[in-house]
Amino acid sequence: MYDAPKIITGLAVFIAIATTPLWYNQWTGKAQIVPKPKIVTDKKQCVRPAAYMREYHMTILDEWRTNVIRNADRRPVTVSNEQYQMSLSNTCITCHSNKSDFCDQCHNYLGVAPSCWDCHTFPKEKKDAIH
Ligand code: HEC
Ligand code: HEC
Ligand code: HEC
Repeated sequence: MYDAPKIITGLAVFIAIATTPLWYNQWTGKAQIVPKPKIVTDKKQCVRPAAYMREYHMTILDEWRTNVIRNADRRPVTVSNEQYQMSLSNTCITCHSNKSDFCDQCHNYLGVAPSCWDCHTFPKEKKDAIH
């Protein structure tokens, strides 16, 4: 038999090093530059809870678009007693008026470039004072 313990230790060290990027970031939270989308609205809530938005905002936009364009349904949606128009430029962007510091923060990091802005207008960017 070869020196099994040494081989196992060697393997363990190898695996630990090879997978460092996977666990180091979670452990310290500092290993990589993570996107920090900036919230500039006075409102406290999004149209859905933040965790849901993080994962499913594209689904909501897609649903809204289908409702408006395919179903000609422009009824407002009600979220915690507030009514919102199903609109990218007239709803999302009224609160998230800082596209480059918000949407783009995540999308650039992920390498996603939604083509929505080819057609949809983006109002003049609003940035907060701290910059
Ligand atoms: C080729 C041009 C074009 C592109 C690209 C495009 N849209 Fe649209 N979108 C339109 C038009 C035209 C309407 C209809 C506007 C109306 O009738 O109010 C619309 C309507 C919508 C609506 C409902 C109404 C509103 O005011 O927002 C949503 C939501 C929407 N689009 C989301 C998106 C999203 C999200 C993307 C990117 C993934 C996107 N669109 C890309 C042209 C486009
Ligand atoms: C009424 C204002 C308002 C509207 C309208 C709004 N948002 Fe938000 N959004 C917020 C606020 C405030 C937060 C942070 C909520 C929190 O931290 O609990 C947020 C959080 C988010 C997040 C999570 C950000 C993160 O740091 O993880 C995403 C993604 C998002 N919004 C996208 C959208 C999209 C897309 C739309 C349109 C479909 C939209 N929002 C409409 C106010 C709004
Ligand atoms: C917290 C990070 C984060 C924020 C903030 C954010 N997004 Fe996203 N966005 C994502 C992720 C993650 C995806 C999914 C990428 C994938 O599936 O490859 C995505 C995908 C999308 C897509 C679908 C793109 C496609 O090509 O299929 C649209 C549309 C979109 N986001 C719109 C927005 C808009 C508009 C805003 C700002 C109001 C925004 N997002 C803010 C993380 C974010």
